Amino acid sequence: MNNESINVNLGERSYAIRITRDFGPLSALPGNGRKTLLISDTNVTPLYGEACRTALQAAGFTVIPATVDAGELSKNLDVTASLYNACTAAGLDRGSSITALGGGVVGDLAGFVAATYLRGLDFIQVPTSLLAMVDSSVGGKTGVNLAGGKNLVGCFYQPAEVVVNLQTLKTLPDREYQSGLAEVVKYGLILDGDFYRQLSDTTTALRALDDDELAKVIARCCTLKAAVVTRDEHERCGQRALLNFGHTFGHAVEAWSGYQGLLHGEAVAIGMVFAARLSQRYGGLSGEEVERLERNLAALGLPIRLTAPADAWTDIRNRMQSDKKSAGGRLQFVLLDGIGRASANRRVTETDLTEVWNVIRH
Ligand SMILES: NC(=O)c1ccc[n+]([C@@H]2O[C@H](COP(=O)([O-])OP(=O)(O)OC[C@H]3O[C@@H](n4cnc5c(N)ncnc54)[C@H](O)[C@@H]3O)[C@@H](O)[C@H]2O)c1
Ligand SMILES: [Zn+2]
Repeated sequence: MNNESINVNLGERSYAIRITRDFGPLSALPGNGRKTLLISDTNVTPLYGEACRTALQAAGFTVIPATVDAGELSKNLDVTASLYNACTAAGLDRGSSITALGGGVVGDLAGFVAATYLRGLDFIQVPTSLLAMVDSSVGGKTGVNLAGGKNLVGCFYQPAEVVVNLQTLKTLPDREYQSGLAEVVKYGLILDGDFYRQLSDTTTALRALDDDELAKVIARCCTLKAAVVTRDEHERCGQRALLNFGHTFGHAVEAWSGYQGLLHGEAVAIGMVFAARLSQRYGGLSGEEVERLERNLAALGLPIRLTAPADAWTDIRNRMQSDKKSAGGRLQFVLLDGIGRASANRRVTETDLTEVWNVIRH
């Protein structure tokens, strides 16, 4: 299959997402000897740093590498400051660019540096985790964490291009890969019922990393996310909020567990079961559809129940309330109105919440 390209249509901020099977030459942008700071992490640099650098050089860029420690803890203002200093030391100017090579952590961090250093440099995303390929590298959300919470500082800043190299997934740890699949399922559930149904037929190919199957799946996810971002770039009209399906409970569980134990996609998988069971109570899904969703997620290697003591509920319930996406302090959910259709800002009763909690918890 040939390389594919998806356009994110945002007027003068439009860009292409290219899905490739190798690294070269990396950028469709003219390098013309311009500098690019290549930001990656300690896991990805030894694997792909050199290949990515060569590919950027082949596109005409002068490359200056910078590596941060792998993991969410690097997404903070101290590391941001050290990268600003790296920009200065490398002599970047307004014509220079930043390239992010890595998962969502590197993408969010490097994107924030690109958005703010010298009031904005061109930004190239080279996502290497499945989550980054289908979600975080598309749509322009950049930012870092504060002690008080995740992603509290940041801005919308669109990349100039996104280059996905499918080969990089071969080295992604299985759990990280499966975690990314949770977001893939999410797109089908909220936006595209046919895609969701096809996914359940291709679980074996997906788990075995079949390239053609993966290219199709990633392209479909990027197309669906691009359409949402085009309609609601700055998360104002409720469209983008749909992407939060499964995340109200998922984020609360991640915070409750101190971001240890469960990966983001695993928490989201459980959160999607939570939201699907709520949807069933409000007439959106049949019991059979909920059970099929649980079987599909389990077949992809994802958890569908949370191991927690019963009294964890008070804490998780409070954390859902303080999720920054709960408008005006009122707890709201994205619920399904059917497979492939969702609506945001839905209110639910406390009885429904606790009853679903008692099913989800074990
Ligand atoms: N900007 C957005 O719209 C958006 C959306 C969703 C999530 N996010 C953010 O994304 C982050 C999570 O992203 P993630 O799941 O990619 O985490 P990550 O960047 O920490 O990557 C996961 C792990 O896999 C390693 N890795 C990445 N690619 C690899 C490869 N090809 N081979 C081997 N190892 C590899 C990384 O070093 C890391 O240890 C969170 O900070 C989250 O807030 C942002
Ligand atoms: Zn997510």
